[in-house]
Amino acid sequence: MKTFISPNGVRKFTSGKVLPTETITVNDFIPSVEKFKGSITNNNDNTQLSFELNRDDIIYGLGQNVRGINKRGHIYEAFCSDDPNHTPDKKSLYGAHNFFIVHGAINWGMYIDFPGKITYDVGFTNSNLLDILIEGVDFDIYYFEGTLKEIVNQFRTLIGQSYVPPKWAFGYQQCRWSYEDQSKVNAIADGFEAHDIPVDAIYLDIDYMEDYKDFTVSEARFPDFQALINTLKEKDIKLVPIIDAGVKIEKDYSVYEDGVKHNYFCNDNQGKPFVAAVWPGKVHFPDVLNKEVREWFGNQYHAFLEMGIEGFWNDMNEPAIFYSEDGLKDAIEFVKNQEGKNLDINTFFALKDSILNISNSNKDYKSMYHRMTTEDGELLVNHYDVHNLYGYNITRAADEGFKRFDDNKRFFMLTRASHIGMAKHSGIWTGDNHSWWEHLKLNIQMMPSLGMAGFLYAGADTGGFGFNASAELVVRWLEFSMFTPLLRNHSAMGTRVQEPWQFDDETTKHLRDIIRMRYALVPYLYSEFMKANINGNLLFSPLSFAFEDEQSKRVEDQLLLGDEIMLTPVYEQNAKGRYVYLPEDMVMYLIKSYEDLESKPFELLHKGYHHIELDTHETAVFIRKNKLLVLTKPHNRVSQLNNDELVVIGFVESAAEYNLYNDDGSSFDFRDGKFTKTNFKVVKEQSNYSVSVDTNDYSVSAVTFYLIDDLGDCQVVKQGIVQDKPKLV
Ligand code: GLC
Repeated sequence: MKTFISPNGVRKFTSGKVLPTETITVNDFIPSVEKFKGSITNNNDNTQLSFELNRDDIIYGLGQNVRGINKRGHIYEAFCSDDPNHTPDKKSLYGAHNFFIVHGAINWGMYIDFPGKITYDVGFTNSNLLDILIEGVDFDIYYFEGTLKEIVNQFRTLIGQSYVPPKWAFGYQQCRWSYEDQSKVNAIADGFEAHDIPVDAIYLDIDYMEDYKDFTVSEARFPDFQALINTLKEKDIKLVPIIDAGVKIEKDYSVYEDGVKHNYFCNDNQGKPFVAAVWPGKVHFPDVLNKEVREWFGNQYHAFLEMGIEGFWNDMNEPAIFYSEDGLKDAIEFVKNQEGKNLDINTFFALKDSILNISNSNKDYKSMYHRMTTEDGELLVNHYDVHNLYGYNITRAADEGFKRFDDNKRFFMLTRASHIGMAKHSGIWTGDNHSWWEHLKLNIQMMPSLGMAGFLYAGADTGGFGFNASAELVVRWLEFSMFTPLLRNHSAMGTRVQEPWQFDDETTKHLRDIIRMRYALVPYLYSEFMKANINGNLLFSPLSFAFEDEQSKRVEDQLLLGDEIMLTPVYEQNAKGRYVYLPEDMVMYLIKSYEDLESKPFELLHKGYHHIELDTHETAVFIRKNKLLVLTKPHNRVSQLNNDELVVIGFVESAAEYNLYNDDGSSFDFRDGKFTKTNFKVVKEQSNYSVSVDTNDYSVSAVTFYLIDDLGDCQVVKQGIVQDKPKLV
């Protein structure tokens, strides 16, 4: 292994020559003599790493995966998987995120830059060992040491800034498989208007297409697609169509014909386009590991962009394979052979499995080939060996296509499969969860590890995708998603509808209040999101990132959001409250609605454990000591929000300060320093506060401070703002 070191002390260990994953954006490593920390064993075609764990070490990271914040005690895989059952026995979900941190006497972290499968046995087989099996011998390892925050920061600096969506993407988004025709989409938009509920986007799932063909629109169901886009635009609602990875095999379908003509699809071992089947039946997969193909596929989005579409979601891009021709043939043959036989325990289960295991099989992945673009030219590689790069590169193709269309406009992009290299191209949703309380908890626990992997713009299908949601679950879930950058309600075909007005009147009111509260939070969320991105920090962190006491390390169901607040979501059915742990004195803001702010719903709680009462429509937000939370007056679209009437809620023992970031929300001009900063300062002198607001954002004109002191008393201070600086944006 060759060893290198970067100026800020990151160690790099190189084994062989890794295929270009293009994850790392920094390249100032110089040779070093450092030795690798753990044990490393190279077998013929794989590599085993082994590290000793101390009894109390905590393992953070591994991005999108099952189980808790502390990953210790299970086996995980990094192998993008299309599996809708996110149960605790699973090892992988849709993303492959090879970054983790060991938090102990010494904190260290590791990123394994490798495109194939890696298995992590995190203290499961042997509770004192972290064993990692890399299915290959060509990889780079990056090793970090420092505080938890420093390790995340070093890693995130290495992979570059994450995807930044347009600001409207912080609004509420409504999805369903499917809003099947034009009138249904209009009816959904009208539903939001009729119920006076904020919304910024409505999604189109696969049924908008003609026979599930990418980049087509069904004329029967969407007779005037342009008119639909325009109508929604007038209402300031974005339409977000889905694009799947598989291109339907159909004569005269231009994407298919063009792809075949130019040899743009992944091939089989005979050099012919590999045939798989997904929604439309038989498809080919664009070979997006090839630069020319990426350009071709990315350009397919342009026709929609020209019509005024501003965002997409990319799906089934692990890639999901229902079956391949060979797989289906083998299975049918196997089933036929069982006809008339007396099936015993083994043969009966083999019969069942022969059909169940037909999808997403390794045999199929091993039968598919790419012509990958490398610095040495095109390289023929087997899909299995680079499996985790597929979803990443098909989404990158879209992003690169957007940039060719308009390089200073932020387009909206969500994808299902991902790899760390993709974090700069798109946001993610966490795939096909269920309307289960367990999946609300999983959503809470996954947010920090997604952020560590660079996925800041993320969220789950709120309310749950599969199965039927109860009103209570949708309310509780929204009470958490009100804080996640992606706030999307999505549900599967055949399940109970779950738009905010589909339950009873009381639930509609609660959901409206929560969604309005989300819009009030947008300035803070956006500000913390952008700062986390620019500075390489987390948006959601485990408590141990800010507090060093032993209890904070073990908390699995509370999160810090940005620098100022702590969240304590309720994730249990019929709960009327929950236990919370406070590592320091904090002020609880009991949210019922934005308007309820005037009743000063604040309570000082001291360090330690508490049981707090939270009725179904109540959310607790804890404001940390000497910290400030900024809110704005809610409106029904993000574009209508402005900073003219701000509210600052502060728990001020001595002094507090907050810088609110804002920018135009639509371009990349912020990278040239075009953003505004509003500085709020509060100083407490005996029982009086002095407040100041210094801003170059012209819209800021009045700020109401709710200031709570260390006795729990709340004072309201109003401040008018006189602008004396030119506006930057
Ligand atoms: C996949 C997606 C889901 C979508 C469905 C139909 O299951 O994960 O979000 O609704 O396909 O397109």
